[in-house]
Amino acid sequence: MTAPSTTTFPAKGLEGVVATQSAISYVDGEAGRLIYRGYDIDDLARHSTFEETAYLLMIGRLPTRSELKEFAAQLKAAQRLDKVTLRVIKDAPPGSRPMNVLRTATSATVYTDPDKGDNSPEAELRKSIRLLAKVPTIIATFHRLRSGQRPLTPRKSLSLAANFLYLLTGEVPEQEVARAFDVALILHADHELNASTFTARVIAATLMDVHGAVTGAMAALAGPLHGGANMEVMKMLLEIDQPERAERWILERLAAKQKIMGFGHRVYRTEDPRARHLRKMSEEMGKKLGQPKWYEISRKIEEVVMREKGLYCNVDFYSASLYYVMGIPVDLYTPIFAMSRVAGWCAHILEQHSDNRLIRPRAEYTGPLGLAYVPLNRRGR
Ligand SMILES: CC(C)(COP(=O)(O)OP(=O)(O)OC[C@H]1O[C@@H](n2cnc3c(N)ncnc32)[C@H](O)[C@@H]1OP(=O)(O)O)[C@@H](O)C(=O)NCCC(=O)NCCS
Repeated sequence: MTAPSTTTFPAKGLEGVVATQSAISYVDGEAGRLIYRGYDIDDLARHSTFEETAYLLMIGRLPTRSELKEFAAQLKAAQRLDKVTLRVIKDAPPGSRPMNVLRTATSATVYTDPDKGDNSPEAELRKSIRLLAKVPTIIATFHRLRSGQRPLTPRKSLSLAANFLYLLTGEVPEQEVARAFDVALILHADHELNASTFTARVIAATLMDVHGAVTGAMAALAGPLHGGANMEVMKMLLEIDQPERAERWILERLAAKQKIMGFGHRVYRTEDPRARHLRKMSEEMGKKLGQPKWYEISRKIEEVVMREKGLYCNVDFYSASLYYVMGIPVDLYTPIFAMSRVAGWCAHILEQHSDNRLIRPRAEYTGPLGLAYVPLNRRGR
């Protein structure tokens, strides 16, 4: 007896499989371009803000001045956390991983959401805006509490990026630093059907709401092959510590057939366009904030990995040294990725709901068939 064949088994990891249609972002892996809703990421990184980019992704077009003002006001109005979410963060046992706390607290915001249970497109959009506003506060609140500091109240005068840095450190960042962070958020906001976005769409396709789908997406993002790579990159830089030690360190890892975090990509066959911006900001901020070493080590690693493996670095590589010189704790790099990607996830969830069909593929069965059932008492000890 053999299993009836379904369709041809695609490449492992669904490589190259087009699983849905989407008008949100386009990754041109050959040319090394990333497009959000028709706009090149290079233009958005130069001219846009994270708030404007989030509007573009979630609503589908660039806002007018008054629309952007209104959108920013909605975000500011939703930044504070309710008591239930605060309790969830406070109850996290000492030493909890930030992504576990973020995922759990994000999920808990549904309890007090005024639109809970209403999955109309309007309510889903309102819930998405609230999630976008609350995630930075959750991350910063968690960090303040675990460091024995009092959580701060969000400042309405600051942009989402500057406010996050303020909530984390207690200091309003310099404009140049806030702008670099804002650009990093723009660059991470969406990336087509990456693992976490696909997860979000699969959950959304069951007609689950935005809270459930974003919570699941956060779980997918936390893995080291996806959003966890930026933390691993920084651990590597810290271990190497000196530019002159980089070459040997990398050669040893490659000889042992280990992967170098922050390199390689499923889609890009050339330079990741986001890495270009992050490399430049890592260099500039490293110099400005008096820590050029991490950029220098990164450059050396990049040179060796290209020479030895022909691999380009990805978005996670230079974001590590950039965040480090900004004073952001290493284990918050993935939560920061999530904070930006909420915009993309929500855009995809809204798009999925707008023309939904349950996502339910098949598996090619490779196990046995026709086995005779043996009762437990005849199976030996
Ligand atoms: C991103 C990533 C998961 C893509 O994976 P993928 O498309 O499944 O590619 P594979 O892991 O099959 O790699 C293909 C080949 O390149 C090599 N390779 C890929 N990334 C590598 C890396 N970072 N370091 C060393 N070699 C790497 C693999 O060893 C493999 O070589 P082989 O064919 O000789 O076995 C993978 O490149 C990776 O693990 N990178 C490190 C983690 C990371 O930076 N993730 C963030 C992604 S934005």
